Amino acid sequence: ALIQWYPGHMAKAKREVQEQIKKVDVVVEVRDARLPDSSKNPMIDAIIGDKARFIVLNKADLADPRQSQAWVEKLTGSQVQAYALDAKNPRDIKKVRKVLTDFTQPLRQKWADKGVKHKPIRLMVVGIPNVGKSTFINQFTGKKRADVGNKPGVTKGQQWLKIDDDFELLDTPGILWPKFEDQDRAQALALSGAIKDTHYYDDDIALFALEFMGRYYPDYLVDKLALTPDEAHPPYAEVLMIITARQGFKDDYERAANKLILDFRAGRLGRMTLDRVEDCYEVSDVQVGV
Ligand code: G4P
Repeated sequence: ALIQWYPGHMAKAKREVQEQIKKVDVVVEVRDARLPDSSKNPMIDAIIGDKARFIVLNKADLADPRQSQAWVEKLTGSQVQAYALDAKNPRDIKKVRKVLTDFTQPLRQKWADKGVKHKPIRLMVVGIPNVGKSTFINQFTGKKRADVGNKPGVTKGQQWLKIDDDFELLDTPGILWPKFEDQDRAQALALSGAIKDTHYYDDDIALFALEFMGRYYPDYLVDKLALTPDEAHPPYAEVLMIITARQGFKDDYERAANKLILDFRAGRLGRMTLDRVEDCYEVSDVQVGV
């Protein structure tokens, strides 16, 4: 669950993360592959500045693979690399280590040219709550550690974890706030699990999910929710009523809505990407130097 963010929290978190970033060579920015745009911190470009950036689109196992591929291409710039993965999957972690090694090769070369003796490249993970920062850190370091929670900013008394001769990683991530700009983004974040459940009504979010599915993944309404093609169309309030009855929840729409949300988050309704690459006109090719 997400803590409450106030302007004071945000300013402090930004300052702390910016301070830590000075000490690292490459920032690993974790986002949710289902929300490659909405799960980004709105000030991240300013916070990271000209530091080298590696964008992890995590939870790719839950996202639409074609969208993930398109997002990776969109977000990868001349000197920014994006990579979609499932941080819980050891094979993906092995692959990302290789990709990171290639990505940081120019920096190693630069050091070598300057006569700097071989040293590990320092990495730090940043991102909004619940995108899988701790999971990534644990898997990447091969260590099992306590949950870091959602306290904004950077935990004090952090340590460098040695990965191998090539990398060191800060043991705790920088925690930043999500975009709260518009209703659609807020609903998509809520559906993904990034917003505390006291901040929304389950039936609003379930209706948002049904509308979204009807628009982008209409087959899933039939295949995953066992609706007939005749039932799978607006108004979605009626669709929610049908689902509620069919699950034996009588008129407990709230319960059916909650189940629908949990099923979505677990990927049981199919792999879906909420932020559509074709709807996003932002150019994200930030110019940074490795
Ligand atoms: P955070 O540090 O950014 O706040 O996120 P954290 O690693 O705690 O992960 C948040 C939730 O997302 C956890 O689920 C975690 O297991 C899950 N998760 C992380 N990476 C992935 C991924 O690549 N794919 C999938 N499918 N899930 C991922 P949880 O329900 O809070 O805990 P649990 O189910 O692990 O007990």
